[in-house]
Amino acid sequence: MIRRGNRQDVRFLRDMLRHAFYWRAGVGAEAASLWRYVSGWGRRGDAAVIALEGGFPVGAAWFRLFAREEPGFGFVDEQTPEVSIAVVPSRRGRGIGTELLDALIEVAREQGFEGLTLSVANDSPALGVFKKQGFEKVEQTDVAWTMRLSLS
Ligand SMILES: CC(C)(COP(=O)(O)OP(=O)(O)OC[C@H]1O[C@@H](n2cnc3c(N)ncnc32)[C@H](O)[C@@H]1OP(=O)(O)O)[C@@H](O)C(=O)NCCC(=O)NCCS
Repeated sequence: MIRRGNRQDVRFLRDMLRHAFYWRAGVGAEAASLWRYVSGWGRRGDAAVIALEGGFPVGAAWFRLFAREEPGFGFVDEQTPEVSIAVVPSRRGRGIGTELLDALIEVAREQGFEGLTLSVANDSPALGVFKKQGFEKVEQTDVAWTMRLSLS
């Protein structure tokens, strides 16, 4: 079951952040900068969906707009929200991530956004999930791809 997220979910989003960016979390300064993905949750442009199993949250996908002066890892511009997503490790590979993305993309369409972006480790099996949803690589570094989905 997928439901829309709200301010009460911020604690769970913080937990999931560690999973979403596990490949960045080892690096001191970068680990600290992960807070930008959830701090002050509830500002304009923030949206989240939560996957539940037996009433317990098992995954989350959320997006947020970033300013050019304080961009996310997958920043493309100030009008394109950046997606974070994670499913708890024991529940991966069962379609939950795909369902979360479907639901989040629907929210983005409803809100009139023309695209979504994200940053993903270039060796992640998750790349396939994003490609299937129509995300395309727009930039790459040694460790990560920035991928963008066009909604227009
Ligand atoms: C990306 C992620 C959310 C996908 O969630 P999920 O519930 O495993 O996704 P699905 O079950 O819908 O799709 C799984 C697909 O990914 C692959 N996959 C990726 N990681 C996997 C894992 N750890 N276990 C099983 N399958 C995995 C499967 O092969 C499957 O591909 P298929 O559809 O061709 O069979 C999840 O792997 C995750 O939390 N990863 C760590 C966080 C991350 O990398 N986030 C992206 C950057 S923000």
